[in-house]
Amino acid sequence: MADSLHRQEALPGQDIPLRVKQRDQWANKMEFILTVAGAIIGLGNVWRFPYLCYKNGGGAFFIPYILFLVTCGIPLFILETAFGQYTSQGGITCWRKLCPLFEGMGYASQVIILYGSITYIVILAWAFLYLFSSFTVNLPWASCNNSWNTDTCVLFDGKNNSGNWTSPLSTSSVVEFWQRRVLQLSSGMEDLGSIQWDLALCLLLVWVICYFCVWKGVKSTGKAVYFTVTFPYVMLVVLLIRGVTLPGAMDGIYYYIYPNVTRLADPQVWMDAGTQIFYSYAISLGFLTSLGSYNKYNNNCYKDSFYLCLLNSGTSFMSGFAIFSILGYMAKDQNVDISVVAESGPGLVFIVYPQAVTLLPFPQFWSVCFFTMIILLGVDSQFVGLETLMTSVTDVFPILLRKPYRREALLLVFCTVCFLLGLFMVTQVLIDSVTTLRI
Ligand SMILES: *[C@@H]1O[C@H](CO)[C@@H](O)[C@H](O)[C@H]1NC(C)=O
Repeated sequence: MADSLHRQEALPGQDIPLRVKQRDQWANKMEFILTVAGAIIGLGNVWRFPYLCYKNGGGAFFIPYILFLVTCGIPLFILETAFGQYTSQGGITCWRKLCPLFEGMGYASQVIILYGSITYIVILAWAFLYLFSSFTVNLPWASCNNSWNTDTCVLFDGKNNSGNWTSPLSTSSVVEFWQRRVLQLSSGMEDLGSIQWDLALCLLLVWVICYFCVWKGVKSTGKAVYFTVTFPYVMLVVLLIRGVTLPGAMDGIYYYIYPNVTRLADPQVWMDAGTQIFYSYAISLGFLTSLGSYNKYNNNCYKDSFYLCLLNSGTSFMSGFAIFSILGYMAKDQNVDISVVAESGPGLVFIVYPQAVTLLPFPQFWSVCFFTMIILLGVDSQFVGLETLMTSVTDVFPILLRKPYRREALLLVFCTVCFLLGLFMVTQVLIDSVTTLRI
């Protein structure tokens, strides 16, 4: 039974014409591991986990986090990977082989990935704009004499505006860069404004990159991840070393990990730990099933999954040191409390960290390192999501889509449609769903 499941390429009753290709497999185990790592290690590890620790009792947060990791994260992760490996089918058709009743769940998860791909990529477009803006003699968010600045613009100084990024009297230059230059916010939801062409071009650039990373299926995805997964670690180590050697770094790290066990009485802490595990392990989205389906049938996926979980949580833990050391330095430099500068999500990546680098010598260099890291962390989550979606769809129509160039054409149509829909996200209205994404 098991062996016949494995060998079967088409579903029962389907004859495979000669020109239809066999289902691909990973060239080696490393490609599988790197691709899954690329998918699950993303922005959430940097912009969400460290902040959750800080907010939820520092080291004490590890108790619910590890509890959910051991009881939910790792078992479900292994289950899904094994499910894909056993059935050799993507996120939709895998259900046909075990319990056809649940096929609808497969479709639902792919719709979630579809929505995710349209919105998540906008963050990368913003990051590209910051990256390109970093190649200047003076960083544009470090001064108040640009065309977009208002009369109330101030260089961030905790002593002057008592730690407020925006107050009725003044706005920090980095906030003005973010709101008036990058987003060019309109007056409200009813006013869409116009498309911003620089952001739209950045968005196009990311879509082109993603297209070519995925276009040959696992043959190209498996190669792209060699760079996109390993290089962010180089950047992370560079930023970590810079961070911990700054004055005030130890204070920041203290706030990050000093345990406050009384926080555990708050149910919100437990909810945060649970959601963080489910989000950051991409559980039940079909990622792991689709990626696992390209494994050899008798691969030891238990060991792989276990190490991937350790790598994912380890990366989150490490990046907390990189983030909080520089936040500690900033708080000390500005003589404010850490709570003024501790942020999560886009507020951390696009306001606080860019502000922090302006306090260092050679700010352009640190800014380039940081945004390169952010882009590479995010881009592989994005394109592995695309790969997952393509795998799932291809397996639903294997005879139609495994002919030469069909998959590339479908992917092109898909990327183009998503890009066009994404143009709404680069208009002047701030789409809330983008800025509250937790992935
Ligand atoms: C620990 O958490 C409790 C409850 O939120 C809080 O009242 C207390 O001030 C915290 N202690 C420290 C040392 O931060």
